[in-house]
Amino acid sequence: MVGEFVGRTSAPGKTILIGEHAVVYGKPAIAVPVTQLLAQVDVFRAPAGSGMRILSLDLGCTIDTEYSQREYSQQLSILSKTTHPSEMPSDPLPYVVYQTLQYLGLDHPPDVILQIHSDVPLGRGLGSSAAVATALVRATCLVSGHSLPPEEISHIVFQTEILQHGTPSGIDNTVIAYEQPIFYSKGRPLERLHLHRPLHLCIGDTGIPASTRATVAAVRQNWERDPAKSEGYFNEIGQIVTEARLALEIGQMSRLGQLLTANHHLLQQLQVSSPELDRLVVAALQAGALGAKLSGGGGGGIMLALVNPGIMEQVQRALKAAGASQTWSFEIS
Ligand code: PMV
Repeated sequence: MVGEFVGRTSAPGKTILIGEHAVVYGKPAIAVPVTQLLAQVDVFRAPAGSGMRILSLDLGCTIDTEYSQREYSQQLSILSKTTHPSEMPSDPLPYVVYQTLQYLGLDHPPDVILQIHSDVPLGRGLGSSAAVATALVRATCLVSGHSLPPEEISHIVFQTEILQHGTPSGIDNTVIAYEQPIFYSKGRPLERLHLHRPLHLCIGDTGIPASTRATVAAVRQNWERDPAKSEGYFNEIGQIVTEARLALEIGQMSRLGQLLTANHHLLQQLQVSSPELDRLVVAALQAGALGAKLSGGGGGGIMLALVNPGIMEQVQRALKAAGASQTWSFEIS
């Protein structure tokens, strides 16, 4: 039974503007939060001794995980001995809560129900897993009377990203925890970006489920086979991203558009595009977008187009006509 409402926490979705895949190899990338899509967690008190329950109502799947204190301690002891991602429990939602409780130095789960609602579509490169995990970390802090800075939230969420995605660069958890456009390089201090003017992005969904884990692994295989060739592409992407940063900071939208499209061509060379993504990119450009590219892991999933707001509907129509299963338009500032 749901008890007293304690509060609500949230976290936005995200999109990778430019630099995916090369970011895994230390090159910079730019990501922006998508605040129009939110993962939210409502926190309710539960009867004393009932432990913690995580309910997921609309994640596109149903997760109803009930943990007693005993199960919790067992999980916790397993976790504390965990040394390798493959040994970790497979359910990332309780896992992120455990990680947070451990991080806060708490021995027992509070008696609460954490009810998740998320508008961030699953498996679409829009940061669903990191958004839900971030909202859960924030909810766990809320019920424990603690607060954590974005850097620490990002660190905890990164552990679940490893669990789900294999060898993530850390860009998703970072942009979502900071809720700001970021210029991100693995292992380097975070740089927050200030956009000279708002970005109008149109996102087209191929409707084809994509596995970032699989495309990241495929890029790694090609890199192992021919490091010089892959590194040539990574370097070119890195240079494009640095130029894109400047274009964003001085508001040169048409240059930014060209750089996005150039990045798409390099992602094609890395073999992470697909005929469906290419078709949507061409359709957006033909409809007048300033630039277009796949976004995220590729192999399916989504593409994005930089669009002057006056032709947003035209671009959305063109994407639908070219086979997009759905489109979204966002203003990022
Ligand atoms: O599929 P997404 O949106 O989570 O993006 C993956 C981005 C990659 O660069 C391909 C992988 C990573 O961890 O950065």
